Amino acid sequence: MNVLVLGSGGREDAICTKLCESKNLDKLYAMPGNGGIGKKASLIPGSVMDKDAVYKACLDHDIQYVVVTPDDPLADGMVDFLSQRGIKAFGPDRKAARIESSKAFAKELMRKYSIPTAGYAVFSDYEKALEYVLSHGFPTVIKADGLALGKGVTIAQSPAEAKKALKDAMLTHRFGHAGETVVIEEFLSGPEISVLAFTDGRTIRPMVSSMDHKRAYDNDEGPNTGGMGTIAPNPYYDEKTAKECMEKIFIPTIRAMEKEGSPFKGCLYFGLMKTEEGVKVIEYNSRFGDPETQVVIPLLSSDLLEIMMATTDCKLNEVDIKWKEKASCAITITSSGYPGEYEKGKKITIAPDFNATLFIAGAKEEDGVLYTTGGRVLNVVSTAVTLKEAVQDAYRNAGKVQFEKSFYRHDIGKRALEALNG
Ligand code: AMP
Ligand code: GLY
Repeated sequence: MNVLVLGSGGREDAICTKLCESKNLDKLYAMPGNGGIGKKASLIPGSVMDKDAVYKACLDHDIQYVVVTPDDPLADGMVDFLSQRGIKAFGPDRKAARIESSKAFAKELMRKYSIPTAGYAVFSDYEKALEYVLSHGFPTVIKADGLALGKGVTIAQSPAEAKKALKDAMLTHRFGHAGETVVIEEFLSGPEISVLAFTDGRTIRPMVSSMDHKRAYDNDEGPNTGGMGTIAPNPYYDEKTAKECMEKIFIPTIRAMEKEGSPFKGCLYFGLMKTEEGVKVIEYNSRFGDPETQVVIPLLSSDLLEIMMATTDCKLNEVDIKWKEKASCAITITSSGYPGEYEKGKKITIAPDFNATLFIAGAKEEDGVLYTTGGRVLNVVSTAVTLKEAVQDAYRNAGKVQFEKSFYRHDIGKRALEALNG
């Protein structure tokens, strides 16, 4: 079977790498892809939002299955569009993708079905939102309702910060339409856990857990980013926690989506916080996480294409999903200045003794040389028997990738290792 992957990040590079091992894969394509994905798949230029271009690519290249990875085309109905034209696609339809594309929808779903999450209120009126925030304590959490590239969340420590966040979102339209409605949440604390899960709408099969590091600088300082590094498995996700999540969060969520007439098929991402009152949902994403995928998928032993097809065909209960008894660590190397302004076009050099997995996020290839094109440039990923070895190996190899003004955090996995050591 010929398969097309939509997207251009490190997450898509990890997915393409794994799909290349699938027994039913004939030819792999990616649109638009990047300098790393191009080594595994034939690249087709175009935008992931251009439905006609995606459909044309399917006809031109005899593509029978499309993996829709990023949030925007999912929220825009790419899966609906392709299936109406007889092309199967991995991912939720537009209605089910609301679980990520509208935080207000997700919060209402959790309230209605008693799924544990932070207390909240939703506002479309600036004055009312401000009045509510000022009458509650701090810190408080202000979130743009829609998709905002992971930058729509502010943890406000003071009335002035809250006022600025509300103004930016609701009056200055910093996030466009995404911020016209805001969700104001109770502030929770505790370690965070990411769990990606395959689901066909009825059966849910959680993958190995992971831990993201979202803040730009060491010790969780600086602005929120798309993700500066990950480790898997997450030591806070012990057997008891996994059972609690399955019973109180995972199964109730897919049953709730089914009851609402929006069964969710694809990869459902649970962003969780382990609080003193139990595990609560911080966010849902309707897709694979980035950079969670870069540590989780290398631990999968089973055939990814077979699992993906089973989610689309509602046969997930029939496939065997096996994981390696190993740990992994991904370090995101960024262009200095990310998530703010940064320079592009820097030549990337990789030392000959580099000995880890490299997933490319923001780089293109020209005549065999990689040049930076984005903020998150690449992920260095190591897999080992213990988390400690995986982290050490990833850092050893991160030092072997160089480009002008590169930057990475030096404490990825530190908190997880401390938790393991008790
Ligand atoms: P989100 O985009 O919803 O995942 O939020 C980004 C980050 O903000 C999360 O990973 C948390 O670290 C933090 N965050 C979001 N909601 C809350 C909350 N209710 N309490 C504390 N921290 C939060
Ligand atoms: N790593 C967080 C996300 O993919 O949204």
